[in-house]
Amino acid sequence: MAPTDFQTPRKPLRTEQQLSPPPTISPPNVPDIVVSPASPVIDPSKADFEEGYIPIALLGDGTYGEAFSALKKDIADVVISKLLDGEKPDLPHSKVVVVKFAKPDESGKLSAHLASEIRMMKFVMKDMSHKLLNYLLDAHSSGEIQWLVTPFCSGGDLDRFTAAYPDILTAPFIWHAGMQLMQALVYFHYGLKDFTSYAHAEPDSWPSLIHNDIFLRNLFIRPQKSGNDFPDIILADFGISKHVLWTADLKSLDKNQLEDYREAIDVINELRKRSKGRAIDHDLTTWVGRLSKMKKGSENILPVVRKFIEVARMCRDKGKLPMHPKVVAALKKVDEECMKNALEAYYEQKKAKEVIVK
Ligand SMILES: Nc1ncnc2c1ncn2[C@@H]1O[C@H](COP(=O)(O)OP(=O)(O)OP(=O)(O)O)[C@@H](O)[C@H]1O
Ligand SMILES: [Mg+2]
Repeated sequence: MAPTDFQTPRKPLRTEQQLSPPPTISPPNVPDIVVSPASPVIDPSKADFEEGYIPIALLGDGTYGEAFSALKKDIADVVISKLLDGEKPDLPHSKVVVVKFAKPDESGKLSAHLASEIRMMKFVMKDMSHKLLNYLLDAHSSGEIQWLVTPFCSGGDLDRFTAAYPDILTAPFIWHAGMQLMQALVYFHYGLKDFTSYAHAEPDSWPSLIHNDIFLRNLFIRPQKSGNDFPDIILADFGISKHVLWTADLKSLDKNQLEDYREAIDVINELRKRSKGRAIDHDLTTWVGRLSKMKKGSENILPVVRKFIEVARMCRDKGKLPMHPKVVAALKKVDEECMKNALEAYYEQKKAKEVIVK
């Protein structure tokens, strides 16, 4: 589990006189006397989360859960106090995170998917670390209070990203997306990271896993640090993933894992369809055909997928152009805006609380 960087203890709040607006976040004026708390707690199941985090914006509202961007309060405390001291806070990476809350179904019972995803990420996937798999930062799972926190991927999901920037859908981008999706899957299924040697996959201790839900909305976009490179495509949402323990289930494991590859091929085909002719590439068509004919079992899947990854990397790099500066700038702005909104909201809250206490 990747720790967050700023883990300093929370500083005591300053008094109203000492608290002048931080120089770069320019919050609007706050009235001198505030009668209601600045942060009304709407839902008791979220109160516990809001003790430690500042929710920023709703990202997704599905049948089983809702996802918000958020910022840890202790990080905001450090940033705000640095700004107030006239220093520029050093933020090498995005500090924005995402929280997912479970939602009740029609009968009022919380969906079991979130608890299952927490179990999966916290226990089964705890030693699985790969830059293309989403990972857990924090979680709470008891009774009515259920939430999990993961890093924020500022490009959102692949469905919305390609809808917002359709011009990105060229053949090199689709080779890239296909390559990364296959890399994430062979790691998820077989623990294989190294494509240059034929080191044995599937160490004995590797869990038997099925993702079960691979489609555009469960693939998130994380911009590369260099900006101009294609973003990383992150495999996420383990809400209906399965960890197979029973002999009976083990029998169908190979078949179900093959189904994950079929869903991944559907993703590649959907991207080709959405490219509206911009990504016509004979080799890509041939490779989609080869992948579709794969038979179940790692002995059949791995040779084909390894070769695909090798070819995909070459084809991506051969025709790749830097990402359009507008897309790079837009992705960067999402992160900055999130931080700014969270800091402003939190600063207002703190200021308002100070006035009430006085
Ligand atoms: N870490 C993240 N970074 C960026 N966007 C995210 C992140 N987590 C969730 N989202 C957004 O919220 C949506 C829902 O999240 P997720 O798929 O994890 O939850 P879900 O319960 O499966 O919801 P759904 O039923 O809509 O798939 C995603 O499709 C994506 O748009
Ligand atoms: Mg989802």
